[in-house]
Amino acid sequence: MKINNICCIGAGYVGGPTMAVIALKCPDIKVTVVDLNADRIAAWNGPLDDLPIYEPGLAEVVQEARGKNLFFSTDIDKAIDEAQMIFMAVNTPTKTYGEGKGFAADLTFVEKCARQIAEASTTDKIVIEKSTLPVRTAEKIKEVLSSNTKGVNFEVLSNPEFLAEGTAIQDLFKSDRVLVGGDDTESGKAAVAALVSIYSNWIPKEKILTTNVWSSELSKLASNAMLAQRISSINSLSALCEKTGADIEEVSQAIGMDSRIGSKFLKSSVGFGGSCFQKDILNLVYLCRHYSLDEVAEYWHQVVKINNYQKNRFTKRIISGLNGTINQKKITLLGWAFKKDTNDTRESAAIYVADILLEEGAEVHIFDPMVKENRIRQDLTTLCEARNESKHEISVKLKRCIVHQENIGALENSFAAAILTEWDEFKFYDWNAIAEKMVQPAKVFDGRNIIENSLDYNFNLTKIGS
Ligand code: NAD
Ligand code: UGA
Repeated sequence: MKINNICCIGAGYVGGPTMAVIALKCPDIKVTVVDLNADRIAAWNGPLDDLPIYEPGLAEVVQEARGKNLFFSTDIDKAIDEAQMIFMAVNTPTKTYGEGKGFAADLTFVEKCARQIAEASTTDKIVIEKSTLPVRTAEKIKEVLSSNTKGVNFEVLSNPEFLAEGTAIQDLFKSDRVLVGGDDTESGKAAVAALVSIYSNWIPKEKILTTNVWSSELSKLASNAMLAQRISSINSLSALCEKTGADIEEVSQAIGMDSRIGSKFLKSSVGFGGSCFQKDILNLVYLCRHYSLDEVAEYWHQVVKINNYQKNRFTKRIISGLNGTINQKKITLLGWAFKKDTNDTRESAAIYVADILLEEGAEVHIFDPMVKENRIRQDLTTLCEARNESKHEISVKLKRCIVHQENIGALENSFAAAILTEWDEFKFYDWNAIAEKMVQPAKVFDGRNIIENSLDYNFNLTKIGS
């Protein structure tokens, strides 16, 4: 089947960039990205320097395709009915209520999406799971789609997304692999072939892997779990390094030079963040428990527990480095995004570090080159609200949280600076000059190990794992 009209439901971090790249690479296909959020759609249609998400290279791709064969719209029903192929790229957060609370993926948005597809479709569709979903979700989606009363046939495929934020465009241009899961039926194979032919426009054939639907769904959760597991493994060893005089950077290099292990994802840090690692592992834990695989569930749960331990451990080191008391002391956090080159702050370690420091009475000053003040305040407010703190308590606490537009005001007269995101600019600061403006003896806590070791520093440098 030749595809010439695609719709994507969900104009977020995945829907926006993936569809922009498909539109760029397949000029004969009309791609319409739809979302319930009218502000987000307006921003996608707005100035290129103010798109709803920041990703290096994204604005150039949008500029090339927008208005030609790439469109952003809130008219979801129209886009669904016109399309032959529909990607579902809606959010699948951790459930905050009911059965599976705190672990299972909340499939409300996916189900609503499937229901809308069932209602709005008058012609046959290939429906694609782009969102990260628990294994066997396709079964539920098929059931919802079967409520269509117009005799429409739906084929459901799994095509999980592996892009990482900050490198999304490069990841999409040169994917390690594209995974397509489909049914082993005549129509299933035809649908898989249709999707493969789209990716074949720029991805080499040998990098497109086809599997059954359940393998594809599970491979996505497993990939994220394995990546996060490497970070928790190295972070757990960083604690041992701090006790023994070993240096985690050296240990990591030594381990990574073994070609069987490889060097990637062995960078010790204040802890991983981002919208997906924690949520996907918790979802995996839930699935294992559901199938009574308690030992397997506990194994993966430990990856998240070590991550929480790392965030707490780093914060405790700041507090003990300041003589065990930080009440009324100015402490500066450099970086709020969960990693460099993105403005995404979801599950960023910075939120948890700031929260503990505020609880201990510190005055927390924050500078991030890309994250806006209202985002930072909202992140802290959401965390406090989840603990049922009152509006008054939250507002009193947030008065001690000051967000800066430039670094120097944030650092002047500070008792300590903590680096929480590995933004390149932090590496190149004149740290000796900064330290002179801080309360003496100046203390810098490097949660990303980006500052070179040197004997010429006039400040006290504490790094992870040494
Ligand atoms: P997001 O929150 O940035 O975007 C999701 C969008 O879907 C939102 O704009 C929301 O308004 C919209 N939406 C929700 N329900 C809708 C509906 N019924 N109709 C229309 N629009 C609807 O989320 P994201 O980061 O793009 O993630 C989407 C999925 O992709 C998740 O399952 C996530 O796990 C997965 N994923 C994310 C990344 C990433 O880097 N962020 C990478 C790989 C996979
Ligand atoms: C991750 C995966 O890398 C993607 O393949 C996947 O598609 C995506 O999750 C998803 O499903 O959402 P992302 O979270 O965007 O991508 O970014 P990563 O580069 O994986 O970083 C995640 C976190 O781990 C960041 O906080 C980062 O700073 C931290 N990290 C990463 C480390 O602490 N050490 C490392 O060695 C690598």
